[in-house]
Amino acid sequence: MVLILALPPAALNGQQAQPASSRYTAPVITDTSSLKGPRQPIFFRHDVHTGQDQIPCMYCHYSAAISSEPGIPALQTCMGCHQLIGGGPPSHQAEIKKVRDAWRERKAPEWIRIHALPGFVRFPHMRHIKALGTQACVTCHGDVQKMAQVSQVSTLRMGWCVRCHVKNNVTRDCSVCHY
Ligand code: HEC
Ligand code: HEC
Ligand code: HEC
Ligand code: HEC
Ligand code: HEC
Repeated sequence: MVLILALPPAALNGQQAQPASSRYTAPVITDTSSLKGPRQPIFFRHDVHTGQDQIPCMYCHYSAAISSEPGIPALQTCMGCHQLIGGGPPSHQAEIKKVRDAWRERKAPEWIRIHALPGFVRFPHMRHIKALGTQACVTCHGDVQKMAQVSQVSTLRMGWCVRCHVKNNVTRDCSVCHY
């Protein structure tokens, strides 16, 4: 396992633009086998896109605030930047080439789903984001801005849901969450 971390002391946890001096720099990763979470078909790094380059979550997961599913962005969203951005380090170039190849071949990457509730549970994303704000992603998903590979940090168990509902005075009727 070789992880070279280059975190400045004031590593970001918000999404607002910061003075260049306190900017988060995504670490160089030479070995991906020690990363938590499933390995995706393209090594898409949230720490690079959202931590270092500060692209807002909603830029890609724009439907989170308007639909019950945030959705994974289509390749078209990626190509808006990667038509031009080919990547600096060779490891980035190699992964970005996969994005461009997939686009040319009209073949969407088969992203592996990480968070998934059983079918009998209803979870309206947009209601939560409306109530908790677009910065609340971290409350449930952890510090995605620093994740090279996304992994699940909350249990997503019933007790987890109910505890927060109690705290926020939200209904705990069985029928609210269960069909
Ligand atoms: C440039 C586009 C882009 C941005 C910006 C982005 N994401 Fe993502 N997100 C993706 C893609 C592509 C995937 C699927 C691959 C993966 O899991 O890494 C994904 C997957 C995820 C997942 C896992 C979904 C699952 O399967 O359960 C979570 C959670 C997530 N993103 C949260 C965030 C948060 C929080 C932010 C802001 C800090 C953010 N994303 C910003 C593109 C983006
Ligand atoms: C708003 C612009 C923007 C969008 C949209 C965007 N990227 Fe990127 N991406 C970047 C930048 C900037 C870099 C860093 C390039 C470098 O210097 O190497 C990058 C780097 C990458 C890399 C190499 C580093 C890494 O993350 O492993 C991959 C792969 C990548 N992007 C895939 C994607 C995919 C897939 C999507 C769509 C889900 C996407 N990008 C959407 C701007 C963007
Ligand atoms: C209150 C907790 C909570 C908050 C806040 C939250 N999420 Fe989620 N998220 C979840 C749960 C639970 C799931 C699994 C939902 C399911 O399986 O139906 C999920 C699933 C996802 C997925 C995968 C869905 C898919 O279609 O593949 C993405 C992407 C995601 N969230 C992004 C975000 C982003 C971006 C934000 C902030 C704008 C956010 N989430 C805020 C709890 C939350
Ligand atoms: C971090 C706190 C938090 C967590 C965790 C959380 N919720 Fe919520 N939930 C809220 C808040 C706040 C609201 C109120 C939104 C509103 O007022 O519209 C809400 C509302 C809801 C609603 C709509 C209630 C209605 O009146 O129609 C459903 C359904 C729901 N949550 C399901 C879930 C499920 C299922 C989980 C677990 C997978 C979960 N929630 C986890 C905070 C949370
Ligand atoms: C805030 C959302 C929420 C509320 C309210 C809620 N549940 Fe759940 N429930 C869940 C989630 C999420 C799961 C799936 C994860 C798990 O099994 O913990 C679940 C799972 C279950 C299961 C299956 C457990 C298993 O082991 O497979 C049963 C049975 C259940 N709930 C009954 C109830 C009853 C009865 C009520 C009302 C007293 C209730 N739930 C209220 C979110 C909720």
